[in-house]
Amino acid sequence: MERFEKVRNARTQTAEVLAGVGPATVLERRTPMESIAEESPAGTEKATRIISVTSGKGGVGKTTVSVNLAISMAQLGKKVLLFDGDLGLANINVLLGIIPEHNIYEVMKGRRTLKDIIIPTNYGIDIIAGANGISQLANLTDDQREHFLTGLEDLGGYDVMIIDTGAGVGSNVIGLVMPADDVVVVTTPEPTAITDAYGMIKSIVANRQEKTIKLVVNRVPTAVEAKRVADRLISISSQFLKTEVENLGFIFEENLVQKSIRSQRPHVVLYPGAKSSACMQHVAARLLNRELDQEGEGISGFFSKIFQMVGIGND
Ligand SMILES: Nc1ncnc2c1ncn2[C@@H]1O[C@H](COP(=O)(O)OP(=O)(O)O)[C@@H](O)[C@H]1O
Ligand SMILES: [Mg+2]
Repeated sequence: MERFEKVRNARTQTAEVLAGVGPATVLERRTPMESIAEESPAGTEKATRIISVTSGKGGVGKTTVSVNLAISMAQLGKKVLLFDGDLGLANINVLLGIIPEHNIYEVMKGRRTLKDIIIPTNYGIDIIAGANGISQLANLTDDQREHFLTGLEDLGGYDVMIIDTGAGVGSNVIGLVMPADDVVVVTTPEPTAITDAYGMIKSIVANRQEKTIKLVVNRVPTAVEAKRVADRLISISSQFLKTEVENLGFIFEENLVQKSIRSQRPHVVLYPGAKSSACMQHVAARLLNRELDQEGEGISGFFSKIFQMVGIGND
């Protein structure tokens, strides 16, 4: 397949550096994407796995990572729903060149069901466009909440839901991070981004000690720099928070990423042979290689937990 050829070529350039943080598959003849595609056929997981992508500082690449991870996972045969949970800067639809007719706010208000507002894309993923609606969760009446949760039950069928959250330690962001099966913290090598990433990890740990936090270092000039940043965060989190941070990988700083954003087409689709695309696919493969240690509770369970977080139990 041509796409895998391109990935393989890009991998030749990056294999050495990726090997430091990547799985053994990097060194195999097959690309990580091919290996995972063969090992994890679509539809083998029972529940929807929820992956929240977050950061301390804004503008570090959460949306870029979320969109490209979602598409990479779809390319591996997973049924993926990408949910725009950024209350301030909802922009997944912008990156995909889609003008949504409806958004989550209408579901909150009971005017539509979630099924009504799911937007299929040309990239093998479905999306739910963002709005300020999530901040209204706490104001829902019992009926509205039931309507909302029933809609979530009906969705089903997704292997993975990726949530692109806002930045920072605010309660809205934490509410979308806490109930997830996996939390991916994105940072860049900038000292302010690293400091804020640590702050975010600290907030997450304060609420969900039992989970490992995953890290992606975006916009790196070299792999050595990525490793330096990751090692620093892993070491201070271990020392001061007694928390394990797992290095999922890194993404090179590349002008092509900005170019694909400007053309409103996803990077891994527009430039599948770019080094940065190989990095994104690699991170996706790493995430999928890992099965849930306990059966997930699906999307409905996820939102129930959000409700509980904001003090509105749903029983
Ligand atoms: N790997 C990268 N290489 C180059 N530019 C990047 C990369 N990742 C992100 N960017 C730039 O950073 C900007 C912010 O990214 P975005 O995903 O919107 O961040 P966030 O969602 O965290 O606010 C993008 O518009 C793009 O210009
Ligand atoms: Mg964003």
